[in-house]
Amino acid sequence: MAQVVVISGGGTGIGLATARTFAGRGAQVVMVGRRKSVIEASAASIAAEQPHAPAPLAITADLAEVEQVEATRMTLEQRFAAVDVLVNAAGGHVARRAPTNTYDDGLAGVARRWTDNFRINTLTAVLLTEALMPRLRAPGGRIIFVSSIAAYRGSGEGSYGAAKAALHPYSADLAKRLGPRGITVNVVAPGYVADTEFFGAAMSEAQLKSRIDETMNGRAGTPDDIAATIGWLASAEAVHVTAQIVQVNGGAERGH
Ligand SMILES: NC(=O)c1ccc[n+]([C@@H]2O[C@H](COP(=O)([O-])OP(=O)(O)OC[C@H]3O[C@@H](n4cnc5c(N)ncnc54)[C@H](OP(=O)(O)O)[C@@H]3O)[C@@H](O)[C@H]2O)c1
Repeated sequence: MAQVVVISGGGTGIGLATARTFAGRGAQVVMVGRRKSVIEASAASIAAEQPHAPAPLAITADLAEVEQVEATRMTLEQRFAAVDVLVNAAGGHVARRAPTNTYDDGLAGVARRWTDNFRINTLTAVLLTEALMPRLRAPGGRIIFVSSIAAYRGSGEGSYGAAKAALHPYSADLAKRLGPRGITVNVVAPGYVADTEFFGAAMSEAQLKSRIDETMNGRAGTPDDIAATIGWLASAEAVHVTAQIVQVNGGAERGH
C-alpha cells in the first residue's frame, strides 16, 4: 500500500517540488490549493512524469476556510484509511503578491495585512493539521510545516514573519502531544528560494543579488533543496528527529 502524503500548496514552487519528490518514491500524493486549474495541471504533470506512482489527487480548497477544510477532510476520509505525511507548504507574503493599492494606508491596511498573512500562513496550516490529526498513521506519521527565514529576522513590515513564527511553538506543542503516538512534528524554514510564485512579478537584479550575497555558498535556494529536507524529515531514518526547526538557507540567517 502506497504512503499517503498530503501537501498543501502542492500546485506550485516548494509544494510542487515536494509532491514530485514523494511521487518519485511511489507515494500517493494529495495536492491542495485554491486555484483548480493550477492544482489539476500540476497533478497531471506529475502523473505523466511518474507513471508507476499512484496518480496524484488534486483537491481545490482555500485552507483558511473552515468549511473547505472540512470538505477536504471528508474527501480524504472517503479515499484513504490513514495519512502518513502532512506537509503544510501553503502560504506566502500577501503584500508581495497583491496588486499595488490592494492595502489601504493607515491602520485599516495594517489590520488587513496582518490578518491576511495570519490566514494564509498560520490558519491554513493549523486547520488542516487539526482536521487530519486523528487520521495520521500511528506510529510513523509525520507533520512538517514550512516556515521562513523571516520568522527569525522579519521581512520588512513584520506580519509575514510573525505569521510564520506562530508555527514554531505550535509545532513544539504538537510534537509533545503526538510523540507518544509515534508521530514526529518538525518545521523547515527556507531562505530565499527561486522558481516559485512567492515574489509575484520577477524581482530586480539588485534585489536578487542582495539575497544571494547573504548566503555563504553564493546561490539561491531551489524548490528541490527544500523538498529534499522535507523528504528526509518524512523518512524512517528521521524517526528520532522531532520538535525541530531546520533552516535551509545557505547560511543566510547567520549573515556574513
Ligand atoms: N520562495 C521563497 O523564497 C520562500 C522562502 C521562505 C518560505 N517560503 C514559504 O514556502 C511555502 C511555499 O511557497 P513557495 O515559495 O513555493 O511559493 P508559491 O509558489 O507561491 O506557493 C504557495 C502555494 O500556496 C498555495 N496557497 C496559498 N494560500 C492558500 C490557501 N489559503 N489555501 C490553499 N492553498 C494556498 C498557493 O496556491 P493557490 O494560490 O492556488 O492557493 C501556492 O501553490 C510558503 O509557505 C512560503 O511562505 C517561501
